Amino acid sequence: MPLVTTKEMFEKAYAGGYAIGAFNVNNMEIIQGITEAAQLEKSPVILQVSAGARKYAKHIYLTKLVEAAIADTDLPIALHLDHGESFEVCKSCIDGGFSSVMIDGSKYSFEENIAITKQVVEYAHARGVVVEGELGKLAGIEDDVNVSAADAMFTNPAEVEEFVTRTGVDSLAIAIGTSHGAYKFKPGTKPQLRFDILEEVGKRLPNFPIVLHGSSSVPQEFVQMVNQYGGAMPDAIGIPEEMLRQAAKMAVCKINIDSDLRLCMTGAIRKHLHDHPDHFDPRQYLKDGRDELRAMVQHKIRNVLGSSNTL
Ligand code: G3H
Ligand code: 13P
Ligand code: ZN
Repeated sequence: MPLVTTKEMFEKAYAGGYAIGAFNVNNMEIIQGITEAAQLEKSPVILQVSAGARKYAKHIYLTKLVEAAIADTDLPIALHLDHGESFEVCKSCIDGGFSSVMIDGSKYSFEENIAITKQVVEYAHARGVVVEGELGKLAGIEDDVNVSAADAMFTNPAEVEEFVTRTGVDSLAIAIGTSHGAYKFKPGTKPQLRFDILEEVGKRLPNFPIVLHGSSSVPQEFVQMVNQYGGAMPDAIGIPEEMLRQAAKMAVCKINIDSDLRLCMTGAIRKHLHDHPDHFDPRQYLKDGRDELRAMVQHKIRNVLGSSNTL
């Protein structure tokens, strides 16, 4: 089976009230752990690559590894560029065989975002590739913003129809209070997402797939594992799983997860090296990382995203 786009998987996800996991990849063990989990759960999956991952592993290695994962699992897999920041990087991924790209114009003005997104859509659609755009800015916990500044960062539902119509994007990432990384909320505060914005966006864009970035749940078992075996990740906090589940039942069809993969793999490897101080064969500790990651992704697919048994 060749790479697929996200079109069919999003149509089914929207109708079925679940979401597809979009997992960031940059090496063989991560790709194997994710795709083996998806195979066990009989779920489609999106593998996504950031500019940093592309630089680290090289485009050719990643596309060949994903090709191998498809041959190995026979799953519908979409290969997606995460946070493409220019037309050129999107073009390079489209020309280089990706089936989906994100053009992240969220740092630009509304009109500039439309212009660059439209340019990518025209190039991508002519080559059978789908495009994700973004409206609104994801906050970071370090951004000590006041309430009105925070409001300005959330997606404005009044803009979404015009953005989608004028650009022709296939999916839209929105900002409702999630953020990238392992420190999403201040310690002691109650995690909150703006479900009212998601609901309003859903009303204005019927049957249209919405994307949530910054959606790691930062499982405390892995935070503890990292901390117990020599790491230091104080106050790591993610999005509660039940909130992600709720979003998946609404218009959200793609949920982006990277930090949880890093955390889980690092925790397992730290534990392995602590328990086996004599081990120095990378296969020994990478295997533990891959096994733990596979189990975590299976849990997410089954209990959080809800995409098990949807092939
Ligand atoms: O959204 C960002 C992803 O977590 C990718 O992170 O740029 O460090 O690869 P990265
Ligand atoms: P996390 O940092 O929450 O895993 O978000 C990843 C992401 O949004 C990738 O685009
Ligand atoms: Zn992101």
